[in-house]
Amino acid sequence: MAVMFRGNSLKDISWNEFQALRPAEKAPMLTSGGHPYHILFSQQFDREFLNRIITLATMTRRIAKTRGGLLYLQGLLAEKRAMLYFVQPSTRTFLSFFSACEMVGLKPGEVRGTSTSSELKGESPEDTVRTFSSYFDLIVMRHPEAGFAERIAWLLSTTERPIPVVNAGSGKDQHPTQALLDIYTLQRSFEEVGGIEGKTVVFVGDLARGRTVRSLSRLLALYPGVRLVFAAPPSLQIGDDILAELREAGVPVQLTDDFHATIPEADAIYMTRLQDEWDIAGESQKIDLRRFSFGVEHLPLLKPNAALLHPLPRRGEIAVEVDHDPRAVYWRQVRNGMWIRAALMLMIFHRDAEIDRYYEDLTS
Ligand code: NCD
Repeated sequence: MAVMFRGNSLKDISWNEFQALRPAEKAPMLTSGGHPYHILFSQQFDREFLNRIITLATMTRRIAKTRGGLLYLQGLLAEKRAMLYFVQPSTRTFLSFFSACEMVGLKPGEVRGTSTSSELKGESPEDTVRTFSSYFDLIVMRHPEAGFAERIAWLLSTTERPIPVVNAGSGKDQHPTQALLDIYTLQRSFEEVGGIEGKTVVFVGDLARGRTVRSLSRLLALYPGVRLVFAAPPSLQIGDDILAELREAGVPVQLTDDFHATIPEADAIYMTRLQDEWDIAGESQKIDLRRFSFGVEHLPLLKPNAALLHPLPRRGEIAVEVDHDPRAVYWRQVRNGMWIRAALMLMIFHRDAEIDRYYEDLTS
């Protein structure tokens, strides 16, 4: 039985009531006028949304190819400002959001750590973030704590100036916009071979603490016929919570510690690094990860249409010599991230229909 709440909005529910809901019950409260508003976890997305954002990212990418198109895009959100609050290390995701903001005209501000903010004076992170809502129209945040972005989204909804919150990585838990760009990359890789449906995807590496895998595996469950293989040392295997969700969704799942044996059956391989920043006493340094890496010697085993992905940064799990192979798509993933994030911001601010119209004129 669902918890009773007064309305279909975050401001009508207490934090405790909200927290107790299942992701599917929370999802409608994260939208506004049929559009996504807060972007917090990947279970809030359905296939219709994924199809829409993929189409939108592609139209945006094509429009940006000409000077006129780029200038048009840069006018779309020119009256808006975005705060990029990244209090955990980031290169790609920060730059990706920064570039996506510029692409659609959003003016970005940034806080890249707590060392120069009033948090050093003892201010609570909640108050710091609430201050941003006076100056900005959107907060994109990367934070070491799972659930922090959710709490801020709820908190801001109770203020006079609620603004949307986008989770750009929350602890070991979720990275929903990375999952969107991964889906976009897979869709583009498999465009000519029937799309993502029916494909076998192998996840490799630190699956216990890698948030990208947790977010992406849930989205892959939305594609009929997808089979997921999790290849990791036993101590770094995927969480039981994810396995339970996948089983409930009817997704065939296999766990193994023999990654190399899975290469010939893979349509996509998603490599990840060791997440030893979460170690308490350097315990994962002792794990031999050579068995969970991809070298040039593995290329002949890979299917001709396969795609090799990595959210990056890498730490040797994929040899640099592999980069030249057309099946290595991790640098393309980086570029796709910018388009998907630009499309997402257009959707959040209800400007996506303008892209449809502009693109139709362009191609008619
Ligand atoms: C990932 C992350 O931050 O979770 N990086 C990224 O956003 N592209 C993966 C990682 O740090 O290993």
